[in-house]
Amino acid sequence: MGYRYCGARPTLTTQSHPPQIVKEQILAETELSHKHLTPELKLHLITPTCRLWTSPPPHSPFLDPFWAFYWPGGQAVSRFILDNAHLVKGKRVLDFGCGCGASGLAAKTSTAKHVTFNDIDKVALEAVLLNGYQNNIVVDSLLSSNLIGSPSGQYDVVLVGDMLYDTEFAHQVLCWLQNLHESGSLVIIGDPGRFALESHPLKKLLMCLGKYELTEATILENRGYTQAFVWTFR
Ligand SMILES: C[S@@+](CC[C@H](N)C(=O)[O-])C[C@H]1O[C@@H](n2cnc3c(N)ncnc32)[C@H](O)[C@@H]1O
Repeated sequence: MGYRYCGARPTLTTQSHPPQIVKEQILAETELSHKHLTPELKLHLITPTCRLWTSPPPHSPFLDPFWAFYWPGGQAVSRFILDNAHLVKGKRVLDFGCGCGASGLAAKTSTAKHVTFNDIDKVALEAVLLNGYQNNIVVDSLLSSNLIGSPSGQYDVVLVGDMLYDTEFAHQVLCWLQNLHESGSLVIIGDPGRFALESHPLKKLLMCLGKYELTEATILENRGYTQAFVWTFR
């Protein structure tokens, strides 16, 4: 297989490789994992038994494979949705920054009418398809555009798993989410207590819907974080 070189890094992209090749590489470099807060969903993830767990970036065919990890905030959102299915039942849902797609898959399992899986990384969207297939869940639609700033009208519920990892980016995201909330969307945010959220002025407008203890495997991956919280706008 030929990799596109991006600096010193070999990078597999959906532009340079057919989706089938990307999917095969995802399957080769991940393992099915259920050691997280939603064990009912088996997900293709990079775990300690995978080559890429310890390989330096130049040995990875993927550029920043965020989708290959199930982030604490995403786990909390998914657990919360599975336990509160009525919130998404029959609703149009957006999984913003879906990564592996677990939160959107949790919404589909909870009988959401339509779920849009959105991630600017098109490799993530291939991983979503594989994870949907693995769990016998139909993936309604995939969207790779950057939605930040766009009007919400189409979505009743917006799921936001661990998107507040950088201060500047978190500011953009939170301002946009506040607009979505004011336009009538139910915004559900999962976060393990990252500084960008904790220190943001909009945090005082959020109320806590749930708090979860992370699994040992997740704590190992996310040094310092042992819990994750679910928030919504008051
Ligand atoms: C920290 S991961 C969270 C993934 C998933 N929600 C979870 O909790 O496991 C952030 C994800 O957001 C995606 N992302 C970053 N900026 C984005 C944007 N503007 N729009 C959509 N996705 C974005 C990244 O590609 C990555 O997959």
